[in-house]
Amino acid sequence: MRTQVAVIGGGPAGSLLSLLLHRAGIDSVVLERRSRAYVLSRIRAGVLEHGTTDTLRSVRLGDRMDAEGFGHDGVNLAFGGRTLRIDFADLVDKRVTIYGQTEVQHDLYDAMDDRGITIVDEAEATAVEDMTGERPSVVFARDGRTERLECDWVAGCDGQYGVSRQALPDDLVATFERVYPFGWLGILSETPPIDDELIYAHHPRGFALCSMRHKMLSRYYIQCPADADPTDWSDDHFWDELATRLPDEAVAHLQTGPSIEKSVTPLRSFVAEPMRHGRLLLAGDAAHIVPPTGAKGLNLAVSDVVYLASALREVYDSGSTDGVDAYSDHALRRVWKAVRFSWWMTTMLHRFPDTDDAFDRRIAEAELSYLEGSRAAQRSFAENYTGLPYHLPSSGRCSDLRQAGHGARSTAHRTAPGSGTGQRPVRPTG
Ligand code: APR
Ligand code: PHB
Repeated sequence: MRTQVAVIGGGPAGSLLSLLLHRAGIDSVVLERRSRAYVLSRIRAGVLEHGTTDTLRSVRLGDRMDAEGFGHDGVNLAFGGRTLRIDFADLVDKRVTIYGQTEVQHDLYDAMDDRGITIVDEAEATAVEDMTGERPSVVFARDGRTERLECDWVAGCDGQYGVSRQALPDDLVATFERVYPFGWLGILSETPPIDDELIYAHHPRGFALCSMRHKMLSRYYIQCPADADPTDWSDDHFWDELATRLPDEAVAHLQTGPSIEKSVTPLRSFVAEPMRHGRLLLAGDAAHIVPPTGAKGLNLAVSDVVYLASALREVYDSGSTDGVDAYSDHALRRVWKAVRFSWWMTTMLHRFPDTDDAFDRRIAEAELSYLEGSRAAQRSFAENYTGLPYHLPSSGRCSDLRQAGHGARSTAHRTAPGSGTGQRPVRPTG
């Protein structure tokens, strides 16, 4: 098999990248380790930044999202018995969209099918070869056989447990990690949401979050020990603990019911640098993990692949590898800001069971009190929560997505990617 870009992983990063590349006239093949049913049933977060929704619309994936998603103009922070609403619309004239990642994944796969993009299901990449040469390839296992996908470039979009990051030489990679001493116990319940908007609650017993998927599907989380077993938590126990951590006026609207899903998520911040080695480029969870506070994971995967598609388009359009050379630095600049914001929100809103002392608690309270009293602080929150702008190297300024490589382009007169030393005609793919 041969293609221009071999994409490892069919999660949001890999799927969206293949669509952005397709839009730019670049071929890709997506290798996905899991079955389609498995990928389409994973439950993840559900808050889309405005840049994410713009990007999805730019590849004609906006229809269902705009019809079924909910635009939220603000979010609530509950602490000390009061609730502070951060008004995004007023502060930064932006909003977020509530639309589950599970739905996004459905839309991505439907669009890929529609556009004839090859997804090889149940194909596990086992190695990336010759990534520093001109002809890299991905070795993968399918149906008990070993196969090879030859390509010009490899996009490692295989999540936190994939092979791509491991394929980078150890001595080249620096990793940065913070493991938080707690997890989130989350449930889905077929009950109306407690509020029209999300509530993030800081409480002496620990953090709680009220979120939603739609009018009759709510998503709730409470901070729990990192090694908690969800089966130890009855639904009643969960609802009682949630109610304890929420302000009274919210509890008055809490409608409980049987959970239809219950799971524990550990919280971790992690970044691997650089995000590129030779012709292997990492994107999404393969390169970085954020704790779910602030819901940045999916949104970062989207900005990475917008940057990456733009860089690869430049290669095929002009033969220049400038964009690819700059990809890691540019992507990491945005990544670190989201890592900072999600770390900050996590630190401010959770109780740290092992190290929690009076000083840390007072600092968290001071952060919240500062937010409450400062429009500047609220603007900063709103700007980060709704999503920092994309910044593409080619434009040198905040991007208009139309500059980001989304326009349909002719594939004629393309040059193949050089390794920075020259150009050669593109080989037909098939
Ligand atoms: N070969 C092929 N596919 C693989 C391999 C492999 N060796 N290893 C992992 N994969 C697949 C996984 O099965 C998964 O479908 O790569 C995909 C990675 O998808 P995600 O984990 O969803 O990561 P990403 O696409 O970067 O999306 C990031 O999703 O994980 C959430 O919280 C995260 O919201 C964030 C977003
Ligand atoms: C969710 O709806 O699952 C969700 C919302 C906001 C977060 C994390 C998760 O910060």
